[in-house]
Amino acid sequence: MKLAVMAGDGIGPEVMNEALKVLNTLSSLDSTLQLEMEELPWSSAYYMETGRMMPADALSYLQHFDAILFGAIGDARVPDEVTIWDLIMPIRKEFQQYVNVRPVKQLKGVASPLDTKAPIDFVVFRENAEGEYSHMGGRMYGQTSQEMAVQTTVMTKAGIRRLSRYGFDYARKHGKKTVTSATKSNAIIHTMKLWDDVVREVGQEYPEIRLSPVYIDALAAYFINRPESFEVVIASNLFGDILTDLGAGIVGGLGLSPSANLNPEGQFPSMFEPIHGSAPDISGKGIANPVAQIWSAALMLEHNGRPDLSDLVMNGMEAVLAEQEIRTPDLGGKSSTADMGDAIIRAIHAH
Ligand code: NAI
Ligand code: MG
Repeated sequence: MKLAVMAGDGIGPEVMNEALKVLNTLSSLDSTLQLEMEELPWSSAYYMETGRMMPADALSYLQHFDAILFGAIGDARVPDEVTIWDLIMPIRKEFQQYVNVRPVKQLKGVASPLDTKAPIDFVVFRENAEGEYSHMGGRMYGQTSQEMAVQTTVMTKAGIRRLSRYGFDYARKHGKKTVTSATKSNAIIHTMKLWDDVVREVGQEYPEIRLSPVYIDALAAYFINRPESFEVVIASNLFGDILTDLGAGIVGGLGLSPSANLNPEGQFPSMFEPIHGSAPDISGKGIANPVAQIWSAALMLEHNGRPDLSDLVMNGMEAVLAEQEIRTPDLGGKSSTADMGDAIIRAIHAH
């Protein structure tokens, strides 16, 4: 498996280090896992040196990898829109990683701040290649009282269709009964109405699955009131982004939440990354929680034909969390990033 590793900025390299330790452990345990990893320095530091987040030919270079393992980017010295638009966005869009898989799952041993009847376990599929995160628009009449800005949301039938089909297919394959669609077509009458129409049309191909369209504002409240009732949620780029940080909050925090940016057709590499950013408030202290990054590596293994090894990692992680002994400060403990990674590796060896 040829893997591009981009650790990025801030806590990115700190948590990536633990994920790489885990991957190296797996390949020492299982000789059939042949990992060929290449670390790429593309980041804000690279930008400070070269004036670019990544080389001009980066995408054609990345295309030859089986997968990309990504940490996080963001640095006070570079505007956030530059780090995002010159690195993550081109990768997601050019590689048609149109499904952003974001599990909202309470791991064993991690308490939810909510008082729920059953463990929280659902998945959000966020549209990842179009929608509200478009580059189209502009600012006009600068420095006058008439100053204004327009930002265009781009939704296409084909884009909505492929995302919702992925969600319904997943529901069918996993025996889920309901797909919840995040919408706002009462106020956003062009793009979100198209979203509703296409989702409904796709849903008709899955008569055994109930489609439940819910306005995004109410849905945010239901994530808090009855999170255990959700199974599969499909959402646009912006709605999915916000909902999944909320999702992370109800299952123990950003340090625990992974994601997969999938190109389901496998024409291009997919990219696996925690949903959190570079966390400048804690970077350099060695206290970031590496679970989101390690879980992202597990998703990468699962997607690349090794669900057995992915399970091994998940079981190791849950064993450590369930033991409650070694935990980073975000989970109320005093352990370091490396302590947590080492404990997970010991648990993997023990299984
Ligand atoms: P953030 O996700 O970096 O941090 C939010 C809060 O969560 C902070 O208090 C942080 O300490 C905590 N946190 C995040 N990851 C953690 C972990 N692994 N363990 C323990 N605590 C953790 O979001 P924020 O502060 O809004 O953004 C910081 C920078 O990251 C910005 O430059 C932003 O643009 C960038 N960013 C990058 C993303 C990416 O690389 N995909 C995604 C989100 C933000
Ligand atoms: Mg986000």
